[in-house]
Amino acid sequence: MNISVFASGRGSNFQAILKTIASGLFQAKIVLLISNNSDAGAFEIARTHCIPTHHISQKIFPSEDAFAKKMLEVLSGHHTEFIVLAGYLKKIPSQVIRQYRNRIVNIHPALLPSFGGFGMYGHYVHEAVIASGVKVSGATVHLVTEEYDRGPIIMQKTVDIAFDDTPESLAAKVLKVEHEIFPLALKAFAEGRVNIEGNKAWITL
Ligand code: GRF
Repeated sequence: MNISVFASGRGSNFQAILKTIASGLFQAKIVLLISNNSDAGAFEIARTHCIPTHHISQKIFPSEDAFAKKMLEVLSGHHTEFIVLAGYLKKIPSQVIRQYRNRIVNIHPALLPSFGGFGMYGHYVHEAVIASGVKVSGATVHLVTEEYDRGPIIMQKTVDIAFDDTPESLAAKVLKVEHEIFPLALKAFAEGRVNIEGNKAWITL
């Protein structure tokens, strides 16, 4: 499975995925890193692993159509079969979603369908979770559809929230489980064990 990773930030999930592929957990190759942010730490990780990179910023493209076409051209130029959003903060153009239907996954730092949607990213998520008083949070791997954070859920793992947890301490707990479940979800895709029916997905053993 040829994977292109999209990341806007430090890239710790990208790093975790690279590590598990290198350990032989599943057969896949990261063929490309795409980022909208030229300062993304993910670029450094890609360089260390000799992975080609592409900086695609919407600012350079006059229309969403031109932007989507460029993205599709770069993706197919690297023989992309699967797309992993690992902390990518921009909306994926619908043309790209259509072309890679059921082959784009994202990781969200909460238990969807709660605490998701437009504007729910990074510390905003953990602040909202703590403020709500819920007792568990976690990470969700889901398929990407045209609607933010609403695609079929592939895998989730919970963490307990302690009385004295802060958004920062919760973020650290959740990040740890993100690094566990993201590679496992990708392994299931690489091995053809993910079944999707409507908004429901399940993994066969
Ligand atoms: C993670 O918390 C992920 O859930 C969210 O963005 C963050 C990316 O972190 N989508 P990193 O760049 O992988 O360290």
